Amino acid sequence: MEDLAALRDELIGAVEAAGDLPALDQARVAALGRKGRITDLMKTLGTLDAEARRRAGQELNALKDAVAAAVEQRQVVLAGRDLDRRLAAERVDLTLPVRPERPGRIHPISQTIDEMVAIFAEMGFAVAEGPDVEDDWHNFEALNFPPGHPAREMQDTFYLPDRADGARMVLRTHTSPVQIRTMVSQKPPIRIVAPGRTYRSDYDMTHTPMFHQIEGLVVDETTHMGHLKGCLVEFARAFFQVDDLPLRFRPSFFPFTEPSAEVDIGCSRAGGEIKIGNHGDWLEILGCGMVHPNVLEACGIDSTRYQGFAFGMGIERPAMLKYGIPDLRTFFESDLRWLKHYGFVPLDIPNVAFGLTS
Ligand code: DAH
Repeated sequence: MEDLAALRDELIGAVEAAGDLPALDQARVAALGRKGRITDLMKTLGTLDAEARRRAGQELNALKDAVAAAVEQRQVVLAGRDLDRRLAAERVDLTLPVRPERPGRIHPISQTIDEMVAIFAEMGFAVAEGPDVEDDWHNFEALNFPPGHPAREMQDTFYLPDRADGARMVLRTHTSPVQIRTMVSQKPPIRIVAPGRTYRSDYDMTHTPMFHQIEGLVVDETTHMGHLKGCLVEFARAFFQVDDLPLRFRPSFFPFTEPSAEVDIGCSRAGGEIKIGNHGDWLEILGCGMVHPNVLEACGIDSTRYQGFAFGMGIERPAMLKYGIPDLRTFFESDLRWLKHYGFVPLDIPNVAFGLTS
């Protein structure tokens, strides 16, 4: 049998000299593969007598293990180097200016959220956020949903496996749980809007299982329904850029507000096309009301001292109306041609003073 110490130096030397992963694999196959050097030697064991075979077998196995260990070690080094090289090659300097020859586009949903937030920020609202995966308490119970309320039924809520502590988890069906998170963690006065993704098991021409809403919440000692009305009239006129846009508040029901209202804005449907403005017809855009005392109390806020209003509005529909986007489902198809057509210039950041859109 050949000199195993020299063979060991040679094989491990080849492994350590491998400069990349394919070269390492070659070195591995040359030593340990079906026709590799060590495998060849293993095949000669049968020609030895019992004692010599036992000794040579042990030595070959030790050599095999040593080479395999060297391969493994080298692999870790080379894979790390590969990753470093890729990270260096794909480095993005976020401080560089936009490249005008390769313009990206802001999705109309992001643009619409930015516009809505700009309007509410001007009125003194801060932005609040909450998780997409919520527990039953924040999404329903603290919002005064009675047991058996239709919104809790399986057909439109996405349920997730229970958490380790037994909490029942859902994909939030509205942004209203952010009201709860805010009231639990902050003391009044509170004035927030919460834009974000929401989920319901629904898919047709006018519904997608994931959609967006923006929630508003004001809590203090003096706010009343008149403030709610003024705030939403101001918002709708600024958003749709129609100064005499009429709004109509219709009595409605939500578990978490009392009294509750739905808000319609003026429109026309002449020729099968919806046009926003003072044209005699009505289109519903949001739900609102005075925060129910049970909701305040669930969050540890004294409902005999504090009151406030809340509202919740979908984002896709106002975006479609404002920007003439005819089909809801196209929002989420990630079609670059669509995004180029309906998207917005990245540095055109909505601002109430300088204009929401150009
Ligand atoms: N969460 C309601 C929904 O998804 C919308 C809503 C209605 C939110 C009234 C509110 C509100 O804050 O006051 O249908």
